[in-house]
Amino acid sequence: MNILLLNGPNLNLLGEREPALYGTTTLAQLEQLVVTSAEEVGAKIRAYQSNHEGVLIDRLHEWRKWATGCIFNPGAYTHTSYALRDAIAAMPQVRVVEVHLSDLTKREPWRQVSVLADVVAHRIQGKGVAGYLEALEWLTKDAATR
Ligand code: DQA
Repeated sequence: MNILLLNGPNLNLLGEREPALYGTTTLAQLEQLVVTSAEEVGAKIRAYQSNHEGVLIDRLHEWRKWATGCIFNPGAYTHTSYALRDAIAAMPQVRVVEVHLSDLTKREPWRQVSVLADVVAHRIQGKGVAGYLEALEWLTKDAATR
């Protein structure tokens, strides 16, 4: 199983950014946690973060033939990016799990809208860093049933 771990805008500041909402784990620590858990199930991870919509799309395009799954926190692009939505829809062979550290159902109304929701395979929110590990577990189980 080859998994792309993709984090969008402002997630490079994890650990110092609004810790009450997003926790104190840094992005490097989060990526390491996912890599370690992936090793246990024999999965390979390519991790990448960008603050730029087009760069995230470029990575999806570039790695679409390598990746079987993708753990993706698109940050605020979740609520606005029809371009990311189209990119995900263009690669149905890559199972994308949309992950959010915070629980969007309990936040501002504009955050409750995900323009990606109906093109991703699964969504996890409000579980902090554990949500990324749950996404890995979901992808592992999903791969076993395919
Ligand atoms: C987020 C939620 C988004 O609304 C926000 O813009 C983020 C982080 C989350 O992980 O909870 O950057 O995706």
